[in-house]
Amino acid sequence: MAQTFAEDVLDGRRALVTGGGTGLGRAMTEVFLDHGAEVAIASRKRYAQAADELGIPGFELDVRDEEACQRVVDEASDALGGLDLLVNNAAGNFLSPAANLSENGWRSVVDIVLDGTFRMSQAAYPELAEAEEANVVNIVATYAWTAAPMVSHSGAAKSGVLNLTRSLAVEWGDDDVRVNAIAPGPVVTEKAAEHLGYADPEVQEKLATKIPMDRLGEPEEIADAALFLSSPAARWVTGECLVVDGGQWLQGNLFDALMSE
Ligand code: HXC
Ligand code: NAP
Repeated sequence: MAQTFAEDVLDGRRALVTGGGTGLGRAMTEVFLDHGAEVAIASRKRYAQAADELGIPGFELDVRDEEACQRVVDEASDALGGLDLLVNNAAGNFLSPAANLSENGWRSVVDIVLDGTFRMSQAAYPELAEAEEANVVNIVATYAWTAAPMVSHSGAAKSGVLNLTRSLAVEWGDDDVRVNAIAPGPVVTEKAAEHLGYADPEVQEKLATKIPMDRLGEPEEIADAALFLSSPAARWVTGECLVVDGGQWLQGNLFDALMSE
């Protein structure tokens, strides 16, 4: 595919990507690196191998731990010499009817997705405000506004992240810290396969029937959106949510496709 952005478009930019070792986070990490940024990644476990392979700093982090969030922001800023870009990509999810969710199941997902995004954003804010121009990208999902069965915990959390995106955009605009979101449509990643069943060709076929563009997405297609939002091309874009889903959400509920025969 033709190169869309100049390969030095992120030269001198310093990024921290949570969950940057796998799936969409890894794709965003690689596209940032390919366009001149320095990148650090952080997660509970699956950061180490990727950091090794890419030759970048990697940090252990559970975003449910407030102190760890601050420590990792400090360590990443030290390693990179500051921070201009933060991607809040870490998430937990599984399919369960709301009526069956345990308190701990609900709390785990909300704690990672919503509270974790807040903790990381708040911890990074002083570094981001110090930068010449900064951008936060939060990863949500279109069911943040459409609603969906089986993911009430994730939907409520992503909905909160969307609102947080806009609130922080308003509070931090004056510091030249932009805050935006991306809502990816279905993309086959290892954990989406494990927790949501996306690896099954039959499931993929059912999902594709709900997508006007007739196919699932690729991780690079989400990463390019993060690149755009983090680039000077988006310098007056803040508080926005960019949907990258082949038109899926316009055509009805994704998970209905999985549950109908
Ligand atoms: C019901 C479940 C469950 C399941 C876990 N729980 N899986 N309940 N059905 N399938 C419950 C457990 O029983 C427990 O409650 C509580 O959740 C916490 O589980 P633990 O395994 O102890 O938690 P932990 O090891 O911290 O793992 C967190 C997690 C896990 C969120 C539960 O799924 C995780 O680590 N996920 C990270 C990766 C991930 O999910 N990626 C997918 C992103 S894809 P009790 O009461 O028993 O103690 C994505 C796609 C969006 O978001 C949709 C596309 C449109
Ligand atoms: P993924 O590979 O499972 O990504 C989740 C990442 O978050 C992993 O790297 C994981 O690493 C990290 N993580 C999980 N819990 C964490 C915690 N408590 N603290 C720190 N890091 C944690 O799945 P993905 O599909 O790429 O998802 C990436 C993002 O896209 C998520 O926000 C997801 O909700 C969103 N999304 C995905 C899709 C899709 O179809 N794939 C669609 C819409 C939205 P560790 O296990 O090492 O912690």
